[in-house]
Amino acid sequence: MTTDTLTPEIDIAASHRLAAAVAVPDSPVAAERDALVARIKAGLKRENAVLVAHYYTHEDIQWLAEETGGTVADSLEMARFGRDNPATTLIVAGVRFMGETAKILSPEKRVLMPTLLAECSLDLSCPADQFIPFCDAHPDRTVVVYANTSAEVKARADWVVTSSIATKVVAHLHAKGEKILWAPDKFLGSYIQTTTQADMLIWQGACVVHDEFKAIELDKLRSKHQDAAILVHPESPEDVVAQADVVGSTTALINAVKELPHEKFIVATDNGIFYKMKHAAPEKKLIEAPTGGISATCNSCAHCAWMAMNSLRNLAETLENCNKQKSHNEIHIDESTRAKAYASVNRMIEFVNNT
Ligand code: 13P
Ligand code: SF4
Repeated sequence: MTTDTLTPEIDIAASHRLAAAVAVPDSPVAAERDALVARIKAGLKRENAVLVAHYYTHEDIQWLAEETGGTVADSLEMARFGRDNPATTLIVAGVRFMGETAKILSPEKRVLMPTLLAECSLDLSCPADQFIPFCDAHPDRTVVVYANTSAEVKARADWVVTSSIATKVVAHLHAKGEKILWAPDKFLGSYIQTTTQADMLIWQGACVVHDEFKAIELDKLRSKHQDAAILVHPESPEDVVAQADVVGSTTALINAVKELPHEKFIVATDNGIFYKMKHAAPEKKLIEAPTGGISATCNSCAHCAWMAMNSLRNLAETLENCNKQKSHNEIHIDESTRAKAYASVNRMIEFVNNT
């Protein structure tokens, strides 16, 4: 495997810490919560809007998405659901690349987010002005990017993939003899490369949340819970992935809790996922994989601070302010970028439909 050490100059960990400082945990008292829920339900109806949420958002938001006929899903399913739903406004609770992907697939719809400040360290680690010349310097490679990227980066790619389909797409391209330029997640890239043996040039980005899982501590925890299955999202470091019984997207990990015979699971991904896991198998025991212990910095503690910026409060306000002259919560992408990005996102969706 070839790798490249190109890393952007932004201090991504500092940016995540800043998000953690401003992400006010949304735990309103019951009466206030009920009032916010009522405002959101009214807003969704008034705006012909549907709520599309990621598994890492606050459980109140996940509950409300399902309660109101929206969805809670992984990043691929969020995009597909938004495209296929008859609502004319999509309200995407997640991080910015998820709102952008919704807009890429549904340009005729208005796409709103509770905050446009919810970033993703993978997206930040791969700025288009560095990535595009990097691709230009490697014209012999098929450019495959993770969905956790900006619209501009997607527009430069041949393929966009999510963690649920990345390995299958790269295996398919490898079988056709194509060499891959992969970005931005170095750990997911390395996992795919090991699984497929494809020739991959890998951008060196990482998820600040999953990067915090510690292999040494996980190993110790496993020895205390030898009957537990280890579930790992592939954005985690290689030595954590190496200990997994199941490596997969958020949906795949929830399904594993439902389908595996184990009664206990150690879970290495954002702990927002526990809400759906508990629903999927209420009788099973779920344990967070360790982020503390030796060599820990605990910037994340297994929760994405950008995801935590979504709250019932800013969701209600977004719906109430969305018709003001300039809404600060609407996703806009220029049409030429969107059309190019659409081609690479849609290639993935067609591939999924045909496999
Ligand atoms: P999924 O596509 O598995 O939902 O992952 C998105 C993500 O950002 C995980 O950190
Ligand atoms: Fe991005 Fe990591 Fe947050 Fe997922 S958990 S949105 S990859 S920073």
